[in-house]
Amino acid sequence: MKLIIVLIAISCFVHTCQGTCNQLDRDSLSSFNLSISTTSPLNWSLSIDCCTWEGVGCDDSGRVTNLWLPSRGLQGSISPSIVNLNSLSQFNLSHNSLVGPLPDGFFVSLKRLQVIDLSRNRLSGKPALSDKLSTTIHTFNLSSNHFHGTIQSSFLQTTLNLETFDVSNNDFSGVIPSIICTFSSSIQSLDFSNNDFTGPIPQGFGQCTELQSFRAGFSNLSGEVPQDIYRLLMLQELYLPGNRLSGKIDKRIVNLSNLKILALYGNELTGMIPQDIGRLSRLERLQLHINQLEGTIPPSLTNCKRLTTLNLRVNSLEVDLGNNFFTGRLPTSLFSCKTLKAIRLASNELIGEILPNIVELQSLSLLSLSNNSLTNIKSAIKILTGCKNLSTLILSKNFYDEELPSNESLIDPEGFQNLQVLALGGCRFTGAVPMWLLKLDKLEVIDLSFNNITGSIPGWIGILPNLFYLDLSHNLLSGYFPMELSRLRRLGSQQNSDEVNSSSLELPVFVQPNNVSNLQYNQLSNLPPAIYLGNNNIGGTIPVEIGQLKFIISLDLSNNNFSGTIPDKISNLTNLEKLDLSGNQLTGQIPASLQNLNFLSEFSVAYNNLEGPIPGGGQFDTFPSSSFEGNPRLCGRILQRSCLNPHVNEPRDPEEKDDIINWLSFGIGYGVSLIVTMLAVFKRSLL
Ligand SMILES: *[C@@H]1O[C@H](CO)[C@@H](O)[C@H](O)[C@H]1NC(C)=O
Ligand SMILES: *[C@@H]1O[C@H](CO)[C@@H](O)[C@H](O)[C@H]1NC(C)=O
Ligand SMILES: *[C@@H]1O[C@H](CO)[C@@H](O)[C@H](O)[C@H]1NC(C)=O
Ligand SMILES: *[C@@H]1O[C@H](CO)[C@@H](O)[C@H](O)[C@H]1NC(C)=O
Ligand SMILES: *[C@@H]1O[C@H](CO)[C@@H](O)[C@H](O)[C@H]1NC(C)=O
Ligand SMILES: *[C@@H]1O[C@H](CO)[C@@H](O)[C@H](O)[C@H]1NC(C)=O
Ligand SMILES: *[C@@H]1O[C@H](CO)[C@@H](O)[C@H](O)[C@H]1NC(C)=O
Ligand SMILES: *[C@@H]1O[C@H](CO)[C@@H](O)[C@H](O)[C@H]1NC(C)=O
Ligand SMILES: *[C@@H]1O[C@H](CO)[C@@H](O)[C@H](O)[C@H]1NC(C)=O
Ligand SMILES: *[C@@H]1O[C@H](CO)[C@@H](O)[C@H](O)[C@H]1NC(C)=O
Ligand SMILES: *[C@@H]1O[C@H](CO)[C@@H](O)[C@H](O)[C@H]1NC(C)=O
Ligand SMILES: *[C@@H]1O[C@H](CO)[C@@H](O)[C@H](O)[C@H]1NC(C)=O
Repeated sequence: MKLIIVLIAISCFVHTCQGTCNQLDRDSLSSFNLSISTTSPLNWSLSIDCCTWEGVGCDDSGRVTNLWLPSRGLQGSISPSIVNLNSLSQFNLSHNSLVGPLPDGFFVSLKRLQVIDLSRNRLSGKPALSDKLSTTIHTFNLSSNHFHGTIQSSFLQTTLNLETFDVSNNDFSGVIPSIICTFSSSIQSLDFSNNDFTGPIPQGFGQCTELQSFRAGFSNLSGEVPQDIYRLLMLQELYLPGNRLSGKIDKRIVNLSNLKILALYGNELTGMIPQDIGRLSRLERLQLHINQLEGTIPPSLTNCKRLTTLNLRVNSLEVDLGNNFFTGRLPTSLFSCKTLKAIRLASNELIGEILPNIVELQSLSLLSLSNNSLTNIKSAIKILTGCKNLSTLILSKNFYDEELPSNESLIDPEGFQNLQVLALGGCRFTGAVPMWLLKLDKLEVIDLSFNNITGSIPGWIGILPNLFYLDLSHNLLSGYFPMELSRLRRLGSQQNSDEVNSSSLELPVFVQPNNVSNLQYNQLSNLPPAIYLGNNNIGGTIPVEIGQLKFIISLDLSNNNFSGTIPDKISNLTNLEKLDLSGNQLTGQIPASLQNLNFLSEFSVAYNNLEGPIPGGGQFDTFPSSSFEGNPRLCGRILQRSCLNPHVNEPRDPEEKDDIINWLSFGIGYGVSLIVTMLAVFKRSLL
C-alpha cells in the first residue's frame, strides 16, 4: 500500500499531476485523430488516460488545455470536434501539412486560448476573423498558410494581452487593423507581410507603445507612412518594403533610437533621406533602394565613425541605397565607416573613380556599384584587391568601352583572396578574358556577359576549383569550347559541391532589377550551376568530354558557330534543366538518349542543320515546335513533317503573297524571340 502511494507521488512528480481525462475531450481528440494521418501514428491509445497522450496536457479537472504537435508530419484537416475542447489554451500545430479550413465556431468556442500557432501548414479558407478572439490570447500565429478574407475590428476588440500577432504569408486582404493597438497596448510584434492588404496604413499603431517589430512588407499598401509610427520609441524593426508607399521619410525617424532594421525598399518614396539619419546609432540594416529618393548620400550616415564610438554594439552596418537618384561621387566620408560590411549603391548616378581610401573598409564583404557612371576599371581593380574581405564585387554597367585589364601581375598573390562573386557585365569592355582570374581560388561566380571581349576562352578557367557559374555570353569570343572546361570541379561531382560552405551574400543580389512588383532576390546559393556562352563566335565541335559536367543545370551555347554532331554524352548531364544549342551549324541527328534528361524543361536546337527524327518520349513530348524549327531536314509529328515521307506536308509552290506573309511572320517571330532572348539574358545579369 505504501509502495503504491509512493509510486503515485513519484509519477505526480515526474509528469505534472493531472486529472483523468474528461470523456468529451477524449472523444473530441479521437475525432481529431481520425481526421489526420501521419507516417508515424500518434501513440494515442483508447486504453490509456488521454491526458498522457503525446502532445496533450490537462488541468486538474481533466480538461484538455494543451495540444502541442508541431513538426509532427500531420496531414489531413482539423476536425470540427476541436471546438469542443473549450478549455484549450496552448494550441500548436505549426510546421505540419494540414489542409482545409478552421472549423466553424473555432474562435467563438475556444475562449481560453492563450497561444495559437498554426504557422507553416496549408490551411485555407476564410477564418471567421469577425468572431471575437479570446480575451486571454497572447500569441497568435497563422503565418504561411493559404488563408484569405479580411481581419475585422471586432475580432481584436477583446484582446487585452496580445504580444505577438503574425498573419504573414497568406492571402488576407482589406485594411490592416490598427485597432489592435487600441486594446492590446503591450503588443511587441506585428507581422502582416506578404498578403494582399490594400489602402493606406491607418493611424493608430502609435498606441502600441511597446511595439518592437512592425512588418507589413510585400502587400499593396499605399499612401504615406502614418505619422504616429514615428512615436514607437521601442521599435527595432520597421519593415515595409514592396508596397506602393509614397511621400517623404519623416525627419522624426531619427527619434526611433532603437531601430536596427529600416527596410523601405521597393516603394515610391520621394525627397531626401533625413540628413541626420546617422543618429540612429543602433542601425544595422538600412535598405532604401528602389524608390525615388534624391539628393546626396547624407553625410551623417557616412560619417559613422561617430556611430561606432557612440555605440559599440553596432558591429555591422549594411547600406543599400540602390535604384534611386543619388548623384555625385562616392563620398569619401563613407570610408570612415570601418565597420561597413556591405554597400549597394547600384543604379544611381554616381560618377568618377573608385578612390584608394576604400581599402580602409577592411570588413567590406559586398560592394555593388553597378549601373552608375564610374570610370577607370584598371585602377578600380588594383585598388579593390586591397579590400581583403571582399567576397562579392558587382561593378556591371560602368566603365563603358574601356579595356578590361588582363595582365596577371595586376593583382598580387594576396589580392582578392576571398572573392566569390565577380560581376563585370554590360560594360562593353574590350580586351581578353583577364588572366588574373586564374589566381582567385575562391571564385564561384563569374559574369562577364554583354561586353566586347575577344580572343578565345582560356582553358585555365577549368581549373578554378570553386567555379560553378560562368557567364561569358554576348561577347566577341572566338576559338573553341576548351576541353578543360569539362573538368570544372564544382560541376563534375556532387561531393565537391557539398564540401564548399554554403555562402550567402551580405545583401542579396538582384537578378530581376526591373520588375519591382515582383522583387526577387537571389542568394548566391540559389544561382544554378551554369555555363552561358551564347552569342559569341565560338566554333569547332562540342567536345564529348562535356558529359563530365554532371551537375550542371543550365547550358547555353546558342548563336555561335558550333559544328559537328550533338554528342550523345550530353545525356550524361542528368541534372540539366535548360539546354540551348540553337543558332549553330550542328549536323546529324538529335541523340535519342537525350530523352533520358528527366529534368529538362527548356530545350532548343532551332536553326541548325540537324536531320532525322525528333526523339519521342520523356520531356521531348513537352517541347514546342519552335525548339526544332529552322532545321529543314528534321522530321516528326511536332513539326508536322513525316519521317517516312519528309515531303508530305510541305506546301506546293506557294504563291508570292504567301511568301511575303511567311517572310513577314518570320521577321516578327524572329524579332519577338530576339526580345525574349534579350529579356531572358537580361534577367540573368547580376546587378
Ligand atoms: C489514433 O490513430 C491511430 C492511427 O490511425 C490509431 O492507431 C489509434 O487507435 C487512434 N487513437 C484514437 C484514440 O483514436
Ligand atoms: C505509447 O505510449 C505508452 C504509454 O504512454 C508507452 O508505454 C509506449 O511505449 C508508447 N509506444 C510507443 C511506440 O511510443
Ligand atoms: C510551436 O512549436 C514550435 C516547434 O517546437 C516552436 O518553434 C514554436 O515556437 C511554438 N510556437 C509557439 C507560439 O510557442
Ligand atoms: C510565426 O511562425 C513562423 C513559422 O513558424 C515563425 O517564423 C515566426 O517567427 C512566427 N512569428 C512570430 C511573430 O513569432
Ligand atoms: C492594389 O490596390 C489598388 C487600389 O488601391 C487596386 O487597384 C489594385 O488592383 C491592387 N493590386 C493588386 C495586385 O491587388
Ligand atoms: C521627435 O523629433 C522631433 C524633431 O525631429 C522633436 O521635435 C520631437 O521632440 C521628437 N520627439 C520625441 C518624442 O523625441
Ligand atoms: C540604371 O540606372 C538608371 C538610373 O540611373 C535607371 O533608370 C535604369 O533603369 C537602371 N538600369 C537598370 C538595368 O537597372
Ligand atoms: C574578415 O572576414 C573574416 C571571416 O568572415 C572575419 O573573421 C574577420 O573578422 C573579417 N575581418 C574584418 C576586418 O572584418
Ligand atoms: C562593341 O561591339 C558592338 C557590337 O558588336 C559594336 O557596335 C561596338 O562598336 C563595340 N564597341 C567597341 C568599343 O569595340
Ligand atoms: C604585365 O605587367 C608586368 C609588370 O607591370 C610587365 O612586366 C609585363 O610585361 C606585363 N605582361 C604583359 C603580357 O603585358
Ligand atoms: C568551410 O568552413 C570550414 C570551417 O567552418 C573550413 O574549415 C573550410 O575550409 C571551409 N571550406 C571552404 C571550401 O571554404
Ligand atoms: C557518363 O557517366 C558515366 C557514369 O556516371 C561515367 O562513367 C562516364 O565517364 C560519363 N561519361 C563522360 C563522357 O563523362
